[in-house]
Amino acid sequence: MERMYSELADYWRLISPVQEYEEEAALYAAVLREHATGPLQTLLELGSGGGNNASHLKQHFELTLVDLSDDMLRQSRQLNPEVAHHSGDMRAVRLGREFDAVFIHDAIDHMQTRDDLARAMTTAFLHCRSGGVALLAPDHTQERFAPSTSHGGSDDGARGARYLEWSWDPDPADESAVTDYALMVRDERGSTRVLHDRHVHGLFPRQVWLDTLAAAGFDARARVYEHSGLPEGHELFIGLKP
Ligand SMILES: C[S@@+](CC[C@H](N)C(=O)[O-])C[C@H]1O[C@@H](n2cnc3c(N)ncnc32)[C@H](O)[C@@H]1O
Repeated sequence: MERMYSELADYWRLISPVQEYEEEAALYAAVLREHATGPLQTLLELGSGGGNNASHLKQHFELTLVDLSDDMLRQSRQLNPEVAHHSGDMRAVRLGREFDAVFIHDAIDHMQTRDDLARAMTTAFLHCRSGGVALLAPDHTQERFAPSTSHGGSDDGARGARYLEWSWDPDPADESAVTDYALMVRDERGSTRVLHDRHVHGLFPRQVWLDTLAAAGFDARARVYEHSGLPEGHELFIGLKP
């Protein structure tokens, strides 16, 4: 498990402040409304992390959240106490019910192989009602990936966190890329720690996304949407369950 989702989970809201998700959560809600047939009330989010997106989406939908990390689920429960949370792996979890929509945000990047990607999409399919929609929002496809650096973080008065994020691709011939994080966290006593955390992400061609969604049973589409934080727009994958 990545350090960000375990020993640093308590700093998640400082590393990735909830207000930074407002614009993109509004986009996801609009895309779901654009594609669903019939009522759109219940939504399952797989890999919901600290619940930042969920804190905005809960104004629109009745949410159920699933994440692999109990430490991240604890953060999300604090932020979204009224929402149902489950511990589970998006490749295998079975809640035994269907939802009007299934959403997987950047957590889908943690699928490192085509097999993992297929298993996550099957989970989405099994939890989606007929006429419902699955929305997948990876950070990158292979075609749109470019090495990059960025930084961020915030303070809450007593504590603070800052990071440098460095995404690169050690082997352009394979289907994964790396994001290295240099993180500094300052606790309430003023002591600062410096940590390195490496995340390995799947990096699949667009056609693999579409073919894998179709193999899971969805009518698959890819669309690029305007997003002010991303000048090149955000490519989203949409699966309609027949
Ligand atoms: C970047 S965080 C998601 C943050 C989230 N978008 C938010 O709004 O706070 C990625 C999350 O994916 C989760 N994750 C990684 N692999 C997973 C898996 N196989 N099943 C479920 N969750 C997974 C991690 O535990 C982590 O919480």
